[in-house]
Amino acid sequence: MQMNRRPRRNRLSGTVRGLTQETFVQLEQLIYPILLIDGEKKREAISAMPGIYRYSIDEALKEIAECVSLGIHTFVLFPGVDESLKDSTATYSYSDDNFYLKAIKAFKERFSEICIVTDVALDPYSSDGHDGLVEGDKILNNETLPILAKMALAQTAAGADIIGPSDMMDGRVGYLRQALDQQGYTDTAIMSYSVKYASSFYGPFRNALDSAPKKGDKKTYQMSFTNKREALVEAELDYVEGADYLMVKPAILYLDIIHCLKQAFDIPIVAYNVSGEYSMIKAAATAGYLNENQAITEMLYSIRRAGADIIITYFAKQFAQLKL
Ligand code: PBG
Repeated sequence: MQMNRRPRRNRLSGTVRGLTQETFVQLEQLIYPILLIDGEKKREAISAMPGIYRYSIDEALKEIAECVSLGIHTFVLFPGVDESLKDSTATYSYSDDNFYLKAIKAFKERFSEICIVTDVALDPYSSDGHDGLVEGDKILNNETLPILAKMALAQTAAGADIIGPSDMMDGRVGYLRQALDQQGYTDTAIMSYSVKYASSFYGPFRNALDSAPKKGDKKTYQMSFTNKREALVEAELDYVEGADYLMVKPAILYLDIIHCLKQAFDIPIVAYNVSGEYSMIKAAATAGYLNENQAITEMLYSIRRAGADIIITYFAKQFAQLKL
């Protein structure tokens, strides 16, 4: 049979498959989340996220050292705050004795080459568990912005390289850019959670950090999973307001959105491979339903193939170990 095109010729051997490989996942492109708690010598397992822990600063330093030796150099930090320190205006977020700020300082002092991304949102510190200020049934937009700015400035003063507004308030990227610039922090970048969906896949994370909303849901600020064009509106605003990175969150159920942003913008696109996406693979692998390492690899490649330049993933360390 005469066939001029036989795509299988390009898959004949491992070498040829390598030669024709279109997508790569490099360790430089991965960001590893570190969940932090106050105290010392603490390394608490998270039942819904096997392999992920909540660390006190001293223990986190060990984890970071291990990651650095494996080739992971960028970390995004999240705090688990004691209920007694939470209030309606999230004052602990910028307080001098905040362990999260101390952690940033300690990590940057010990490892000068690492890059630290922070989380800017009220929810870890808010007695209401929402990302913005709560008044009755409403999440206040403009009134939230100055608190976000205080938090971002405190994080930057502590040594953060990139601040990560994850709150989804309107106008916050421009507001934060101006606040940073006014203090002379023109080198501090903004990685905006631009397109963040109201997703059930944040469940394990909220359990791990006790950050679920006390009342209601986040649907008045996080996006609906029914919408795609709206993603471009959010991304465009953040771009114009000065974001250095645009993020899509979650990742694997939103590959079309990642693709869409990659086509439309020339700044780095970040995908957050969230807690539920992690736990899903872990659970299926533990049950013996699929091969864990193969599934992780395929998932990370799919996110890169869709167009993400950078992936935030709880699998970063495990993937780095696989690559050895
Ligand atoms: C909110 C925030 C969320 C995550 C990190 N910061 C989502 C939420 O609770 O609404 C989720 C991360 C994950 O699921 O891995 N500021």
